[in-house]
Amino acid sequence: MISIAIDGPAGAGKSTLAKALASKLGYIYIDTGAMYRTVALWYIRKGIDTKDRDAMLPRLNDFVIDVRNIDGVQHMFLDGEDVNGLIRTPEVSMGASNVAVVPEVRLKLVEIQRQLASRNDVIMDGRDIGTYVLPNAQLKIFLSATPEARARRRFLENTAKGIETPFEEVLADMIARDKQDTERAFAPLKAAEDAVMLDNTTMTVEETIVYITGLLEKIG
Ligand code: DC
Repeated sequence: MISIAIDGPAGAGKSTLAKALASKLGYIYIDTGAMYRTVALWYIRKGIDTKDRDAMLPRLNDFVIDVRNIDGVQHMFLDGEDVNGLIRTPEVSMGASNVAVVPEVRLKLVEIQRQLASRNDVIMDGRDIGTYVLPNAQLKIFLSATPEARARRRFLENTAKGIETPFEEVLADMIARDKQDTERAFAPLKAAEDAVMLDNTTMTVEETIVYITGLLEKIG
C-alpha cells in the first residue's frame, strides 16, 4: 500500500491539495481533522467541556465513529448519523483542537487511521500523520503559510458560504488553535524530519498543486 502524508496548520490548503492528488492518483483521501471534529461534536452535544479531560475520559467508549467513502467523498458518521454538515462550525473547530490534546482520544482515532492506510492507497491529511500516524509514508509534505494568509483564505471561504465571522476573529481563532496543536505534549503539529517543506503564502492553490504534482513526477 502507498501512503502520502500531508501535515500543516489550519488553512494551509492541505485538504484542497490532498483531494487534487487523490483524484489524480486514484488514492483515497482521508481527512483526519474531521474525525477529531466528530469526537468534539459528541462531547459538545452531551454538554461535556472539551477541555475537561477527566469528564471526557469515562465516556470515550460511549460513541462510535465511522468513516465512509460515499461517491468519493469522506463522510463522518457518529453513532450511525451522517454529521458532515455539522462539524465545520467555529465551536467544533476549537473543540476538535481541545479533544486532540487528550492522548486516549488520539489513540482511538489513530487506530482507525492506520487501519484505513493498511487497506488502501491513501493521501491522509492532519497534524501528526508524517510524524506519528504513518511514519513510513512514502511521501511526506508539510504545508504552511503565514497566519494572516491562512486566515484570509478561511475568511474568503466563509464569505463565499455566507458565514460572516470578522477577519480578526478568524485570525485569532486560528492562532489559538495552532498554538494548542503545536504545544500539546502527545503527537503535536510538527514537520517530520523527512518531509518536503512548502510555504505557500504567496502561491495560489493551483500553484501549490502544480508544484507538488511536479515533485511526484520527479520521484516517480
Ligand atoms: O484539520 P482540521 O482543521 O479539520 O482539524 C481540526 C483539529 O483537529 C485541529 O485543530 C487539531 C486536530 N487534529 C489533530 O490534532 N491531528 C490531526 N491529525 C488532525 C486534526
